Formats: sequence, structure tokens, C-alpha cells
Amino acid sequence: MTETVSSELPGQEFPVARGCPFAEPDAYARLRERKPVSKVRLRGGQQTWWVSGYAEARAVLADRRFSSDRRKDNYPNPNGDPRFRERFRHQPPPMVSLDGAEHTAARRALTGEFTMKRLAALRPRIERIVDGFVDAMLASDSRPVDLVQALSLPVPSLVICELLGVPYRDHGHFQSRTAAMIRRTASAEERLRAFDELRGYLADLLARKESEPGDDLLSRQLARQREKGALDRESLVSTATGLLVAGHETTANMISLGVAGLLEHPEQLVSITSDPARTPRAVEELLRYFSIVETATSRIATEDVEIAGVTIRADEGVIVSGLSADWDPAVFENPGALDLGREARHHIAFGYGPHQCLGQNLARIELQTVFDTLFRRIPGLRLAEPVDDIPFKANASVYGAYALPVTW
Ligand code: HEM
Repeated sequence: MTETVSSELPGQEFPVARGCPFAEPDAYARLRERKPVSKVRLRGGQQTWWVSGYAEARAVLADRRFSSDRRKDNYPNPNGDPRFRERFRHQPPPMVSLDGAEHTAARRALTGEFTMKRLAALRPRIERIVDGFVDAMLASDSRPVDLVQALSLPVPSLVICELLGVPYRDHGHFQSRTAAMIRRTASAEERLRAFDELRGYLADLLARKESEPGDDLLSRQLARQREKGALDRESLVSTATGLLVAGHETTANMISLGVAGLLEHPEQLVSITSDPARTPRAVEELLRYFSIVETATSRIATEDVEIAGVTIRADEGVIVSGLSADWDPAVFENPGALDLGREARHHIAFGYGPHQCLGQNLARIELQTVFDTLFRRIPGLRLAEPVDDIPFKANASVYGAYALPVTW
């Protein structure tokens, strides 16, 4: 590294845990104001660039001179353990870690699965799934109900299972492994074990699908590779792992946070309950407000690049803080206010540029359906505990809630 940690916030390690679920950490705001492209120290000591301005964030994420290859030595590694990088050197990387033509080819193989037409066809099934879990909540005698277990996790888990062709009866297995993989407090051993177990499970599942294909995404990917005479089982395991993990945990956290946020802002909630046509816009604002993916939008420079007058040298790591960018007052007026009426669709909660989230429109349908259904069918829903007592995931790489007790 050619420059040392900027003097703006000496001693502060990044990423910073959110003290309040409804605010960005003070350190992010201070850094964005003073130096939106700054050198910071990660937990574990590694130095990296931290991009906190909205314009600067988009400039980095759209620029192909920044690589997503997480196997590179200086790649930002908030886990602080080099074994993670080592592990990725022996396996085909998931799409999110690929660059250039390789990335384009991997993404193209999947885009047909996420077209608006295909997703629109899924909507009625998603509505039935949400209704089914709300039925179960209403039928339950005991209160409070933990919304995370009753709705937030099962909805996206069942949806992604059906899409991929993963048996839902195995949800306990992949949910617990995913949770361990992204928990910052889990030891490196625990996280690696969880990752290996999940890959092992999906490798077995894919082997079964080779002889007994179904009408699902993974079977179609197998058939597609076979037709081309290029069956690559290991890379399919990476694809399956990436989709399964990305497909349920993120959306689950957004459901929990969205419900908590809406219940804590009843004057805002009323705007969608009185007119469901407003829900899509509200979902964009909730995505912006919580910007739950903290460090996945990381990169490494492949050559010297100037961003906002700052030179990022070749081989230096960069973390784009989606939360900080989405709270940039230069773009979102009064960003700390949850304002469901604002036009927020240009947020970068789903990233930006070539790696922008492949599953974003699926996530949107799930979130819209959950919020519409839940508040319509349980109008008296409320938090069963003060918001300060809710265990939020201050220490995970994807923000969310471990539990959300609700009653009505
Ligand atoms: C609220 C829910 C979600 C959020 C906040 C979210 C966020 C993100 C972000 C920030 C990225 C960009 C990573 C980067 O730039 O390096 C990303 C990529 C990705 N997401 Fe999502 N995601 C969500 C839901 C989903 C779902 C439901 C799926 C799958 C069904 C999914 C699949 C993916 C994939 C495959 C990529 C990699 C795309 C690429 O590298 O080209 N995500 N997501």
C-alpha cells in the first residue's frame, strides 16, 4: 500500500457495527463528508480504500479496471483470515468473483432464469407461499411469534428452493450453514466448515439430478452444459452455492428489517396499507434505507485508477459502502428519514455495474408480496418488544435481525 490510513478517523476499524438499526454509523457520515474515498483499516489490520460517496461508489462499481477476483492477495478481506482466500483458490469461483468475459459468460448462462416474464409467472406461486406462512402464523396459539422463523426465512428459502430444485425439507441444513458463513463472530474454522458442508450437500444434490433431472434451474444448467459437451460439475456447485446463499439470506433480512422499520414508522406504513399501488416505491426506499449488504461490493484495482481526484494504485483493495452511498445527502435529501414516497430506485443496495444483483427482481417481488400480504391480513401487527431489545445483526456481513418477536 502506498498510502497510510487517512487521518480523518484515526484508530477506527471498518466496517463499523451499526449502533442503531435505523441509522448509518456516525463514522460513515463523517468520512463521506470529509473524504469520500479514504484509506481505512479493516478488522484484522488489512488496509483498504473505503468509498462512501454515492457518485464515487458508482464510478468504482462501473469501472472494469476494478476486479472482483476474491482470490487475489490484497483483496479486501474483512474476515481477516487468509484461509478463506486459500479455499477459493482450489474451487471455481462463484459468478460474483469472476471478471470480464468469464463473468459475462457465467451471467449469460443464468439471465434467462431471471427475466421479467419468468418472474411474473412466479408471482402467483410466491403469493400462495406467503399466504401459506401467514395462515400458519394466524393459526398459531402462542404469541409472540418470531417473524424471522415464521416468515422472513421460510418465504425466500422456499422460493429459492423451488427455483433451484433444492428439497425444502433440507432448509434447516442450508439455513444454518449460511448463517454461520456470514456471522462475523463465528471462528474461521466454523465458517469454512459451514461452507464446505454446504458445497458437499449441493454436490450430492447435483449428482442426483444428473440421473433424475427435474423442471428446475439446476437441472437446466446441467442439461445446458451437457449439450455443449462441457459439463463442469465443480463450477455448477459454485453456482448453486452462490444462488442458494444469495437467494435466501439477503431477502430474509430485508423482510425482517422492513417489517421492523414499518412498524416503527406507523405514519409511513399507513401510506402502503391505504394504497398497495405504492408498495413497489416503498420497497425501494426500504432497500435504500437499510442497504443491508455491507462489504460484498468490494474490488481490487488492476491498474492505477483515479476516483474523485484520488489515485487508487494497482493491486490496492477497495470496499464500496452501499449503506454510506445510499445515505449520501447529495443524492438522497434528508437520508436518515424513512420516506416511502421518495423516488429511491437509483439506490445501490443491489450493487451497480456488471455485477449488479442478478436476483433483484425476484427479491422485489418477494418483498412487495410479503409487505402487502402481512399488513393486510394482520392489521394489528406490532413488535412484541421495544425495538432496542431486538437482536439486530450488528456483527454480520449482511445486516438483519436474528429474531423479531411480533404479536397482534
Ligand atoms: C434483498 C435482497 C438482496 C440484496 C440486498 C442483494 C444484494 C446484492 C448485491 C449488493 C450484489 C452485488 C455484489 C457485487 O457487486 O460484488 C448482489 C449480487 C448478486 N446477487 Fe443479490 N441481493 C439480494 C437478493 C438476491 C437473490 C434473491 C438472488 C438469487 C436468486 C441473488 C443473487 C445474486 C447473484 C447471483 C449476484 C452476483 C451477480 C454477478 O456477479 O453478476 N441476490 N446482490
